[in-house]
Amino acid sequence: MSVFKDKVVAITGGTDGIGKALVQLFIAEGAKVATCGRNYDKLYSLQLEHASVMLHAITCDLSKQQDCKRFIDSTIKTFGGIDILINNAGISMRSLFQDVDVEVIRKVMDVNFFGSVYCTKTALQSIIERKGIIVGISSIAGYRGLPGRSGYSASKFALLGWLEALRTELLHSGVHVMWVSPGYTTSNIRNVALNNEGNPEAESLMDEDKMMSAEDCAREIFKAIEQKKRSLVLTGTGKRTLLINRLFPSLADKLTYKFFFKGGQLIK
Ligand SMILES: NC(=O)c1ccc[n+]([C@@H]2O[C@H](COP(=O)([O-])OP(=O)(O)OC[C@H]3O[C@@H](n4cnc5c(N)ncnc54)[C@H](OP(=O)(O)O)[C@@H]3O)[C@@H](O)[C@H]2O)c1
Repeated sequence: MSVFKDKVVAITGGTDGIGKALVQLFIAEGAKVATCGRNYDKLYSLQLEHASVMLHAITCDLSKQQDCKRFIDSTIKTFGGIDILINNAGISMRSLFQDVDVEVIRKVMDVNFFGSVYCTKTALQSIIERKGIIVGISSIAGYRGLPGRSGYSASKFALLGWLEALRTELLHSGVHVMWVSPGYTTSNIRNVALNNEGNPEAESLMDEDKMMSAEDCAREIFKAIEQKKRSLVLTGTGKRTLLINRLFPSLADKLTYKFFFKGGQLIK
């Protein structure tokens, strides 16, 4: 029998990409799943897809503390508590810092960092009572600053620092704190990444076909949670990037520049 059978798993951002694949995996394992997103229609379709199982899905804007509280409180009310919280939802940006409106950076921080803080703060007592698991979905950008994505990198660095501190605070509580750093993964994130004015940048030049699938990424995250890993870095390129960054930081600057700029122009 699955270790996740009847466990309550709250996953932010379960309507697209990695979060949606995680929702499907945990439901298949017999977990009681709660998820959220801003788009009502996508949540409704998800509920129709899983009409016969325990799925709690509500609209929520993670940048708003009250919305996060409503998501977590309603999950606890529906299922009696939370065993695993996966802070997955995130947004990205594509603009040089020189050109970007600082509100864009604030918005990315609000969703990626503060959304995780708000949800975890509300869920913490229940997770402590159940000796549960807190997961952060970070990125390679959480270890290596990426040009044109300075706010995104900042939000993921912040996420890791906060989770590491939290892990230490909870060392003797029985709660496990961990994070996963995916590499490039096929999803909707690049289609809705914010441009310098804070509007979704319609088109990305990245080749989605060469990326890890959201389903494979979710399977790796699932296994890491099952094994209670401390952290996990995904994709060969992701692992190589972090190794070079640690051993040869100046070379990493040059290689990262070469990857993200063509003819002096930022690749979007
Ligand atoms: N895909 C990659 O290449 C990649 C690489 C490294 C790390 N990651 C990380 O993986 C996580 C999942 O990303 P993804 O690629 O699966 O993205 P995605 O396909 O764009 O899905 C993002 C999910 O988050 C939700 N969301 C976004 N903003 C929200 C908000 N303000 N409030 C509530 N929900 C919100 C979206 O629903 P609504 O739009 O309806 O709100 C959607 O369900 C993110 O933390 C991302 O940074 C992704």
